Amino acid sequence: MTTVLITGGAGFIGTNFLRYVRRTRPDWHIVNLDLLTYAGNPENLADLAGDPLYTFVHGDICDRALVEGLLRRYGIDTIVHFAAESHVDRSILGPAPFIQTNIVGTYSLLEAARTVWPDEKKVRFHHISTDEVFGSLGPNEPPFSEATPYAPTSPYAATKAASDHLVRAYHHTYGLPTLITNCSNNYGPHQYPEKLIPLMILNALDGKPLPVYGDGGQIRDWLFVEDHCEALLAVLERGRVGETYMIGGGVQPTNLEIVAELCAILDQVLPGSPHRPHGALIRFVADRPGHDRRYAMDISKIQSELGWSPRHNLAEGLRASVTWYLRNSTWLEAIRSREGFREWMDVNYAKRGVTEP
Ligand code: NAD
Ligand code: DAU
Repeated sequence: MTTVLITGGAGFIGTNFLRYVRRTRPDWHIVNLDLLTYAGNPENLADLAGDPLYTFVHGDICDRALVEGLLRRYGIDTIVHFAAESHVDRSILGPAPFIQTNIVGTYSLLEAARTVWPDEKKVRFHHISTDEVFGSLGPNEPPFSEATPYAPTSPYAATKAASDHLVRAYHHTYGLPTLITNCSNNYGPHQYPEKLIPLMILNALDGKPLPVYGDGGQIRDWLFVEDHCEALLAVLERGRVGETYMIGGGVQPTNLEIVAELCAILDQVLPGSPHRPHGALIRFVADRPGHDRRYAMDISKIQSELGWSPRHNLAEGLRASVTWYLRNSTWLEAIRSREGFREWMDVNYAKRGVTEP
């Protein structure tokens, strides 16, 4: 039986992964360590409360004594490390928590793991990372691959790059059995509505402006979160120790195309909405400082070694996401009324103003 410590399991991808593991590996004991920052939502996992093979621990990954204690108490043999400060715009306004959680927190977990697991070969430390560590691609450059040099540009990306380097170093130096995955932009159920797709859905439902940064021509590679979860489990169970794997969706629309597609879906599914056509709500606003222009992923390694490919195409994934947010309006409402959400919207958007594309 596997006993897995999931860090950040009350956040967006962690929640989806935890639920995916619960469904597909019903005999695993899951310990979820989460600090419940603004992005962590206990409601995401409320229905697991009575599950004897699920343990929630409210705590900080930076607390090494706590982490060591959990590894020993529960006999944990697998760590899947999601916990992070994850929003680029917040890292621009205040990098300090990113340094603390993303760098110091990863270091704390690594130290706890190598202390409790000296010379263990069957254990795994799986670090969840991002394509943003590679910086920005020009229009004709090839996609990011496992061989791409690191060139992070935002404070968020720099802290994720630092954590990747630490994980690699612990494998190289101490022989810790690590895995690293670098994934592109996820979307889907349970994503906190500060990120592009849920924010656009939320604002469109309210008839509020849809703020597109700069000219909206930036390109991201989009992956439905369930596909990411499937890839993560494949890497965890069958990936080669010490290796890195790129994960991505293979679709690279511009931000403006994404927002337009969301508006079209909302027009269809809400024929009686007073805010139709939702596309009329789009506004171009001041750009994100240092905004990366283009990301794209070469996923040939995970495809050939582990046989993983994304199952959802973008149109299906966006439709499923819109449907989820419409069906879970109480989830959305609860976040909206939580302390800090409105303040973030004010601080991030009030000063941007509306610009010409
Ligand atoms: P999220 O912001 O939704 O969730 C982060 C979770 O970590 C929250 O539950 C929060 O409470 C918890 N957390 C924060 N600081 C903590 C601490 N010090 N100790 C314990 N828990 C803490 O993030 P997400 O979007 O689910 O991203 C998860 C991971 O995946 C991150 O490492 C991120 O860098 C990476 N990633 C995200 C994406 C994406 O598109 N969202 C893509 C690639 C990689
Ligand atoms: O690429 C993977 C990364 O994807 C993850 O590592 C990050 O944790 C995750 O937050 C995400 O980062 P992005 O900055 O790409 O995601 P975000 O949803 O914030 O923005 C997506 C794009 O949309 C980006 O080009 C900025 C733009 N944008 C975003 C917001 C919030 C807008 O145009 N308007 C907005 O209001």
